[in-house]
Amino acid sequence: MKIAIVLGTRPEIIKVSPIIDEIQKNNTDLVIIHTGQHYDTKMSQQFFEDLNLPTADYNIHSGSTTAIKQVSQIICKLEEILKKENPDIVLIQGDTNAVLAGALASNKLKIPVGHIEAGLRSYDKNMPEEINRLVADNCSRLYFVPTDKTAINLLNEGINHNLIYITGNTIVDACIRNTPIAQKKSQIQDTVKFDEYITLTLHRAENVDDKVRLKNIVMSIIDLPYNIVFPLHPHTRKSLENANLYDEIKNSNHIQITEPLGYLDFLSLMSNSKLLLTDSGGIQEEAITLNIPCVTLRYNTERPETIDAGGNILAGVKSMEITDKIKNILDNPDVYERMCNAKNPYGDGRSAARIYEIIKHRYENNTLNLEA
Ligand code: UD1
Ligand code: UDP
Repeated sequence: MKIAIVLGTRPEIIKVSPIIDEIQKNNTDLVIIHTGQHYDTKMSQQFFEDLNLPTADYNIHSGSTTAIKQVSQIICKLEEILKKENPDIVLIQGDTNAVLAGALASNKLKIPVGHIEAGLRSYDKNMPEEINRLVADNCSRLYFVPTDKTAINLLNEGINHNLIYITGNTIVDACIRNTPIAQKKSQIQDTVKFDEYITLTLHRAENVDDKVRLKNIVMSIIDLPYNIVFPLHPHTRKSLENANLYDEIKNSNHIQITEPLGYLDFLSLMSNSKLLLTDSGGIQEEAITLNIPCVTLRYNTERPETIDAGGNILAGVKSMEITDKIKNILDNPDVYERMCNAKNPYGDGRSAARIYEIIKHRYENNTLNLEA
């Protein structure tokens, strides 16, 4: 059996890493195809090193350009690579442009697609990721969904139940395995200026490409009466500089900006945080895995399980609301405790082994490409 994995961004590298481990442990043929969407060392290579991953077999070097050029270039290159490699299945993870391109190219070549973290829906088609999810799920053959709710989303869209597997989310595998390693190896705490702090991340296009929204969020963090450590995504750095907001943050004594961090450093930073303030998808999942309250800088989420479980709240992007919601958590020990004790809906950290076994079983039964 030969498995190809198409990946392109930081969260995909992290979330497929437990699956790569599983494939290697079982001596199965593996081809890793990096689209090159994330290319800075701190957004890509650092994660291959931190997670001990083999070097990608191919790098398409799509880089940053328009989404149309990026996706079409990746599709064209994938046609060549996939025809040459002829894998039995292509795995994609999540909702990025790499996922969209990987799903379309494989589907056109009639190679079955396994979508890891399938079925998530924000029901907000303004998000580029929502369109990517819908297209990817329509092109996929096997659906590895994290929760019951995500399975129901697919059933409601008419996907055959025989193709849907509730496996949990591989982020739990990655987080559980790497936290003890991070505790031993990461030196990041020596560089943090504060004893108590909130970790902030921000990069969603709808937040950072809209100057009004970005300004609202910046005003709110500048006014927050808590210390903040802010590893800055390159997309956000550019948006802040363009909107003349970067210096305002940099000059605030209670905010420490850092470069984007490697996974071990970031796990260590999160593990020691009072609270995670974010618009990231993966961090909403990691917060509830690490038992840290999460405040999400959005009006919707494709991870409603975290809200239902009580570990995450949506704060929107208006200054007063963000401040009030954070204060309500940090100034009320009962609320804080309840959020820390929210039950993780994303599984037991064995998602990657399940996904591998399902693929192997279907391969051995000749049903990788059948609706059975
Ligand atoms: C992408 C994904 C998003 C995911 C995020 C993870 C899409 C549509 N978006 O968003 O779903 O949550 O990755 O972090 O697929 N840049 C650099 N160096 C890099 C990469 C990007 O400087 O290594 C800058 C470039 O100016 C680029 C901008 O960031 O134009 C945005 O990059 P892009 O990959 O388009 O989107 P992300 O915001 O990273
Ligand atoms: N992350 C990291 N370093 C950072 C910020 C995030 O290692 O400086 C990790 C984080 O732990 C999570 C993943 O990157 O596993 C989330 O990526 P991101 O927020 O960029 O994308 P999203 O999950 O929103 O698609």
